[in-house]
Amino acid sequence: MKKETTRSDELFLRATKVVPGGIYGHVAPAGGLPEVFPHYAESGKGCRFRDVDGKEWIDFLCGYGSSLLGYADPEVDEAAERQRRDGSVLNQPTERMVELAEALTDRIDFAQWAVFAKNGSDVTTWATRVAREHTGRSLVVKAKGAYHGVDAWCDPGFGGRIAEDRAAVREFVWNDLDGLTQLVEEEGEDIAALILTPYHHAAFGASEMPADGFWTGVEDLCREQGIVLVLDDVRAGFRLHEGGSHRHFGFTPDLSCYSKALGNGYAISACAGREEYRRAAREVFLTGSCWNDAVSMAAALKCIEIAKRENVVERLDLLGRRLEDGLQSQAKAHGYSFALTGPPSMPFPWFEEDDNLYAVQRFCGFCAEEGVFFHPHHNWFLCGAHAEADIDEAVEVAGRAFARMAQEKD
Ligand SMILES: Cc1ncc(COP(=O)(O)O)c(C=O)c1O
Repeated sequence: MKKETTRSDELFLRATKVVPGGIYGHVAPAGGLPEVFPHYAESGKGCRFRDVDGKEWIDFLCGYGSSLLGYADPEVDEAAERQRRDGSVLNQPTERMVELAEALTDRIDFAQWAVFAKNGSDVTTWATRVAREHTGRSLVVKAKGAYHGVDAWCDPGFGGRIAEDRAAVREFVWNDLDGLTQLVEEEGEDIAALILTPYHHAAFGASEMPADGFWTGVEDLCREQGIVLVLDDVRAGFRLHEGGSHRHFGFTPDLSCYSKALGNGYAISACAGREEYRRAAREVFLTGSCWNDAVSMAAALKCIEIAKRENVVERLDLLGRRLEDGLQSQAKAHGYSFALTGPPSMPFPWFEEDDNLYAVQRFCGFCAEEGVFFHPHHNWFLCGAHAEADIDEAVEVAGRAFARMAQEKD
């Protein structure tokens, strides 16, 4: 049966005339997304959003993680609005920037300084350049399949690249400490930076936690060889530990990058670093037309305050475990071997023997029909505005989805 044309479809068709591809980047409609997923949203509040066709969703993607407290958090919005009345992008930075750098260096145990930009990619790329400036070396090492942003040295696409863009990048397989050691033995004297996410959260695959001893091994290798350890905490930052994800896993990076959860939806990113990298940080050019934006800095300051006050990290963990337990028991009741991989507060769904992702796509499609937004190939996010009742409602919907899948099999 032909699907009815929705306002979302109409907007997408309009967009294809004026925006290359209609929607770009990782939010573009990709193969394997449920047909009922909307292309356009209209509004968001708390853990729910409304699409342009008026359908309300319980959201488990939370603005790809940028909503830590929930959409349109009233306190964050009020702080932002107060600042907006005084000015957002002026000629100079405002006091908010100093306050925010103070708040981050207070919160992140190893950091003595912080700088700000708008996107995760701005700071991951900048951090690798700081490492090069500091060491005088050229190579950057990353884990295969890890996402660090849109720049040519690391983006997952193919367009517009020349071979030289990747000439100074080396890769190893996440958790393969022997492979990394070999790489360091062979090229260590030329390696400026090792950039890693706190755990491996590649798209289209189960998340992988660090194996026992992985982070200690990584730290030892970096310290022995003078390699700068860059933590890309853009996705997980402030969801696993309020001092940064390195605290959750028990290691210490040299530089760390944050974005998503930092501003609760206001565009901001940060790189924080140890004292010894201050000189290099001053030398590597850093600016952007709107990077001094005081509104997002005011929002970030408020977000940090609320997250601490409300103990959001612990709450997300509890909610994530509730979701995990609920989904596991529903799956089991319908004969499915299903797991949420990665940390409970940002889980990735995985069906056993579902390497082509068919089952997870079917599951997310059925849930989407009933207004639960579970993404089939990106990790999910919990936010502070999810209530136990929202989790339970989603679990109930999931139960019906598993039942429909089981019926299809019969
Ligand atoms: C781990 C990680 N690093 C970097 C980025 C890039 O951040 P942005 O999309 O803000 O440029 C992302 C974005 O999803 C990410 O998840």
